Amino acid sequence: MDLATTYLGLDLRNPLIASASPLTGTLDGLRRLEDAGAAAVVLPSLFEEQIEAEAFARDRLDDLAAGFAEANGFFPAGSLPDGGPQHQLDLIARARAALAIPVIASLNGTTDTGWTNYARLAEQAGAQAIELNVYLPAMDPTLDAAAVEQRHVDVLAAVKRAVRVPVAMKLGAGFSAPGAMIRRLDAAGADGLVLFNRFYQPDIDLVTLRLWRHPALSTKVEIRPGLLWIAALAGTLRAAIAAGSGVEGAEEVVKYLLVGADVVMTTSALLRHGPGHLRSLLEGLARWGEARDFASLADLRGRMSRGRGGWPSDDGRGDYIGVLLGYMGDR
Ligand SMILES: Cc1cc2nc3c(=O)[nH]c(=O)nc-3n(C[C@H](O)[C@H](O)[C@H](O)COP(=O)(O)O)c2cc1C
Repeated sequence: MDLATTYLGLDLRNPLIASASPLTGTLDGLRRLEDAGAAAVVLPSLFEEQIEAEAFARDRLDDLAAGFAEANGFFPAGSLPDGGPQHQLDLIARARAALAIPVIASLNGTTDTGWTNYARLAEQAGAQAIELNVYLPAMDPTLDAAAVEQRHVDVLAAVKRAVRVPVAMKLGAGFSAPGAMIRRLDAAGADGLVLFNRFYQPDIDLVTLRLWRHPALSTKVEIRPGLLWIAALAGTLRAAIAAGSGVEGAEEVVKYLLVGADVVMTTSALLRHGPGHLRSLLEGLARWGEARDFASLADLRGRMSRGRGGWPSDDGRGDYIGVLLGYMGDR
């Protein structure tokens, strides 16, 4: 089966992309992902807070140097701490030089201020597309839904203004009307939509009575919100759709493609099983398609989308009520 496809105008050898994680944060990890079959990689995010912290540190150094002319020699240009924005930009350049597959840079922030200019620096460093993650959990209860939604549109507009390469937006599923939000971002010029991001939620350790701070890897039930909304919107958007969460095996990849995803991203399964797991995802996808005589991805993509009758077309309540009333216990 021919697995070649496109995403954000990039030619891909297959629909599997390694999403942002520590695995995509080193050249060694990136090479292992490419060798195992990743069609593209999203590098770890460059955070608005990192950029602002570096700008603050640079200002402090400038002040110090201005106050003590002899201090100039102690703080040569580029002497700021490792791991910050410059490190991320260097990684983009090194990844581009080392890999044949497309390199997507990720920016992560919540305001449309100066930090968004880093999108241009990422583009200049060689990023072939930008993924924008407006991770805004809205813990401030005075920040209402309209303000959160507007913030997404504003940050997207600022990044789109800064670059020529395509910009995808990675979204959480927790909007009161996800379909309307996605359509709004599509109309605002998003070239791709990653459905969905996961929100980090700490747990409580009952032995130490402390917060348990761990990203908690996903499980396959987490494909459900993505399945629902990709099925509902496939074929109605200008933007490409990337499925974002919960892939454990090839079955989840197939399901996402069946509802209409253009590409499928994965992190947790690769952290759990190693980059080589991509091979079994790709083999499983090809085996499934060939067993049904599908010659290419186009034959299966979207077959189970709402627009093609693969999903209830009511307002969502009919199916819900039927499922609740029809429950006979798990067997
Ligand atoms: C340890 C870890 C680090 C991550 N770092 C980033 C990041 O820098 N930027 C980002 O947008 N998402 C990040 N993510 C989220 C993943 O890219 C992905 O969207 C999420 O884990 C859902 O996919 P999955 O169900 O396949 O894990 C991270 C996830 C994990 C587990």
